[in-house]
Amino acid sequence: MAVNMKGKSLIEINHLSLEEIYQIFDLTRTLKEKQNTGEPHKLLEGKTLGMIFSKPSTRTRISFETGIYQLGGMGMYFNQNDLQLKKSESVSDTAKVLSRYLNGVMIRTFDHQDVIDLAKFGSIPVINGLTDLHHPCQVLTDLFTILEKRRTLKGLKLVYIGDGNNVAHSLLHGCSKVGMDITIASPSGYLPVKKIVAESMVNAKYMGSKIEITEDPVKAVRGADIIYTDVWASMGQEKEAAERRKKFIQYQVNSKLVKNAKDDYIFMHCLPAHRGDEVTDEICDSLNSVIFDEAENRLHVQKAIMALVM
Ligand code: CP
Ligand code: NVA
Repeated sequence: MAVNMKGKSLIEINHLSLEEIYQIFDLTRTLKEKQNTGEPHKLLEGKTLGMIFSKPSTRTRISFETGIYQLGGMGMYFNQNDLQLKKSESVSDTAKVLSRYLNGVMIRTFDHQDVIDLAKFGSIPVINGLTDLHHPCQVLTDLFTILEKRRTLKGLKLVYIGDGNNVAHSLLHGCSKVGMDITIASPSGYLPVKKIVAESMVNAKYMGSKIEITEDPVKAVRGADIIYTDVWASMGQEKEAAERRKKFIQYQVNSKLVKNAKDDYIFMHCLPAHRGDEVTDEICDSLNSVIFDEAENRLHVQKAIMALVM
């Protein structure tokens, strides 16, 4: 039975039920097929999506803007600097005003609380396009991409090597929700937030899967079906890049490290990749790599999300 998601915000993956996650994937498959065969699917004709960005973006911006257009609606891009938001107007007043014009809002920002407040004070669905804490659209896309490649999610082992950041947090929530084993290997001081690990442990217990947090990348990679990495310094942490490079050097995904994984492991990266830092060209461009399929699928998955919640 279909779950009604109309009006629902997507703030973090843990707010979604397993049924909702698979409903997004089912609609994604349909919409991807329609897009590829040129069949119109204007499910959001006349609707408008506001897109607020206070950090740069290639994939998120272009996939949301293209996606809403393909669904028959219109996307409007706002750089946060162009808005009164958080300068001369509160998040709550902004939320109420935007709700009078738009049918949905997608926001990429620093403080996760701003996304929570935008949803709390407004009356339209809010989609998190990345905060310092979470990147749910990315990880829903990653799970959909794995499902396309492996036809199942449950029982697979995903190993994330690197910074315990927004992507790692959403992977913890996402993998544990769908019953995948997940191992995070990060240097001391850069492990994922404890509360998110604890929430994911609850999911994993329910689904019968495993979560491991370690500082040992070699041990972590053993038996991996999927190896995932992300930049060592995220947007907003540029000043720490040199210091982080020293601490993360053992965490590079390269041909030596991947020898410990299964032969047919899948390599994933949310992109942008800092080639030569967290991953080598050899791995990025190998036959195991699905990084550009992931990027493409952002479009299809987000179209499904928009169609369901708007
Ligand atoms: N992966 C991702 O969100 O990319 P952008 O920063 O280019 O949007
Ligand atoms: N962790 C990265 C992800 C970019 C898509 C960042 O926040 O910059």
